[in-house]
Amino acid sequence: MTKIAPSVLSADFTKLKDEIDTLEGAEWLHYDVMDGHFVPNISFGYGILSQLRKITDKFIDVHLMITDPLFYCDEFIKAGADLVNFHLESQDSVEHTKALLAYIRKQGVKNGLTIKPGTDVEALKPFLDDVDLILVMSVEPGFGGQSFNPKAVEKIKAIKDMRGDRNFVIEVDGGINAETGKQCVEAGADVLVAGSYVFKAKDRKAAIASLL
Ligand code: DX5
Ligand code: ZN
Repeated sequence: MTKIAPSVLSADFTKLKDEIDTLEGAEWLHYDVMDGHFVPNISFGYGILSQLRKITDKFIDVHLMITDPLFYCDEFIKAGADLVNFHLESQDSVEHTKALLAYIRKQGVKNGLTIKPGTDVEALKPFLDDVDLILVMSVEPGFGGQSFNPKAVEKIKAIKDMRGDRNFVIEVDGGINAETGKQCVEAGADVLVAGSYVFKAKDRKAAIASLL
């Protein structure tokens, strides 16, 4: 069963609780952290996450678009993340990447590894036995509201083939709407992140249902 993870980046923060309450049918929330260094934008950090944690029981998937996920991941776990996912491109070696994946799991939460549109799926091969989730970016990370890059569909298929009988889930993020979401699910995506498509819709429940 496909899971929908609305990206709170596109929510109206003046009424965050009301916004979250409209997300019927979505089991997850996607929380985009940007540090103004790994990506050219700044969003929000662990302080806001701890407030979000108080108003929802949904599974919170934290997407760290930051240069130093090792340094900050404890704070996000303390603040209530259910899953911490970081970029492969933020790491300088296979060894450090594996160590961080193991560290996150050891703290009792799920881990995730993300690749940008320009990163080949081959780069994921050393980590297939170490991940709970692989996130395929279908836009350049940094901003909501960009258009979907169809190359992501091929990547999802390739990762699904590489998965074999392993249990990790495949997530896709960026430019997801009813049409691109369907292509991704057919290719093998288990979780669809959707920011503007969900939050710009007048009827959020219908928008979420159209992705399922
Ligand atoms: C982009 C973020 C996305 C973004 C998706 O850097 O990782 O999660 O919020 O937004 P949409 O669905 O509007 O492309
Ligand atoms: Zn994201």
